[in-house]
Amino acid sequence: MSASEISPARVTLDPQTGVLRGAGVTESVKTLRQLAGYFRDEAARAAMDPETVLYRVQSYEPQPEGVEGAICCATTFLMPGRVGDEYFMTRGHYHAAQDRPEMEVTVSGEGVLVLMDENRQTRAEIMRPGSVHAVPPRTAHRVANIGTEPLVFVSYWPSETGHDYGEIVARGFSGRVRQINGKPALVPEPEA
Ligand SMILES: [Fe+2]
Repeated sequence: MSASEISPARVTLDPQTGVLRGAGVTESVKTLRQLAGYFRDEAARAAMDPETVLYRVQSYEPQPEGVEGAICCATTFLMPGRVGDEYFMTRGHYHAAQDRPEMEVTVSGEGVLVLMDENRQTRAEIMRPGSVHAVPPRTAHRVANIGTEPLVFVSYWPSETGHDYGEIVARGFSGRVRQINGKPALVPEPEA
C-alpha cells in the first residue's frame, strides 16, 4: 500500500482576523459613493467624502455565482461610523434562488444583523465575536456596525444562490439601525 501525499489547504481563513488568503480569493470594496440612496439621510451621505470605504469583502467561491456544486465563504470588514444617525451598513439583499439559506459567523466587533421576511417583517440579532446567525430562506439580510472598531464576519452560502439587490434598491428594509438617545435601535421605516 502506497501512502498518498497529504496536501496543505489552498485557502486559509485567519481565525483571529478573518483574513482570507489563497488561490481564488477575490476582494471588492464598497464606498459611500456606491451606497448613494441607501441611507435614510441622503443629504448627510452626500456631504461626506464619497471615497470613504464602508466595507471590504474577501470572497472564496469554488464555483461561479449561480452554479451549484460548492459552498462559498466571504469575510466582510465593515467600518464603524454613521450617516446621520444611521450606522454604516451593507447594501443587503435577497437571494436570487429564494429558497437558499446563509450563515454568518462573527469574528470581531459589534454589529446588528437585520433580517426581513417576504412580508417585510423585520427583526434583528446582535452580532458579537463568535456569534452564529442562520439566515433563513426568503429573507433579506443586511449588517450594521454599531461598534467603534471594524465589524468582521464570515458568511457561508451555496454557490447556486445568487444575489437580488433590486428589491432592496426599490423598497429598502422596513427597519433601520439608528442611534437613538445614544443607543442602537431598530427603528421601523415607513415606506416612501
Ligand atoms: Fe446572502
